[in-house]
Amino acid sequence: MTEHVTTHQAEEDARNEDIMIFLNGRVVPKADAVVSVYDSGFMLGDGVWEGLRLYEGKWAFLEEHMDRLFEAARAIDLDIGLDRDGMVAALEQTREANQMKTDAHARLMVTRGVKTRPFQHPGLSQQGPTVTIIMEHSRPSLPRPIRLATVPHIRGLPMTQDPKLNSHSKLNCILACIAAEKAGADEALMLDVNGFVNTTNACNFFIVRKGEVWTSTGDYCMNGITRPKVVDVCRADGIPVFERNYSLVDTYGADEAFLTGTFGAQTPVGEIDGRVIGSGEMGEMTQHIRGLYKKLVEESI
Ligand SMILES: Cc1ncc(COP(=O)(O)O)c(C=O)c1O
Repeated sequence: MTEHVTTHQAEEDARNEDIMIFLNGRVVPKADAVVSVYDSGFMLGDGVWEGLRLYEGKWAFLEEHMDRLFEAARAIDLDIGLDRDGMVAALEQTREANQMKTDAHARLMVTRGVKTRPFQHPGLSQQGPTVTIIMEHSRPSLPRPIRLATVPHIRGLPMTQDPKLNSHSKLNCILACIAAEKAGADEALMLDVNGFVNTTNACNFFIVRKGEVWTSTGDYCMNGITRPKVVDVCRADGIPVFERNYSLVDTYGADEAFLTGTFGAQTPVGEIDGRVIGSGEMGEMTQHIRGLYKKLVEESI
């Protein structure tokens, strides 16, 4: 078994040691970008975030990312303290400070902010939100297709912590990832409450069977932005694509499987629970969809 890889693996880039980070209206060197131990994000995972990618000077699907961010903030009753234009200006301020033009990845985080005392009640966050943006030079680099393992951790019902929400707290996903790694895989394939295949701990999940592309209904997975874009490009290209329930039996028997996410676009899956998927390498359909998605990104920026 070779070393573990992750879907967010990027080429080493020494420039990332000297990046500037957005912290509450200021852009500061990485070493100075620190938040209080009283911050609700640090203390409780109380916040929401976005991962965005810069291509040729433009943020891909910026409107969709802003929609999701502000919707998530509304859902957790968090006042971001900036409107959409303000948030985009913060992204641009950070981009300019880092002189980034393309192949950069931004993690934009908003927490409920610094608390007056170290307890859970949201009313203890009285100083306004903490807004940070980490922007790194980033070129995805995967030595081989991803290996997945199914894990006991499921995607839950929306009345606990809605799995659609891009929440700071990712403990369920992290535990799933740890379990997968301990099983010798790279990442976790997570089922939904009914035992259907849903998503992975860090990406959305697709299979290809007999020329058809299948993904989950979307009921229990993170509201990924790449996922519906893949569905759209398939439809536009005449590829039969279905958002449906399917099981591990369908998945082990798939011709191809791939993951979707802002960072890696479409990442091939070579193995699931020790079963080689297709040839174990990136399949033709995955390759084709990568091309369609790349074109969509180019057209959208
Ligand atoms: C659990 C999970 N699923 C899917 C995704 C992919 O979402 P997107 O396509 O918006 O990057 C992410 C991204 O963070 C995630 O954490």
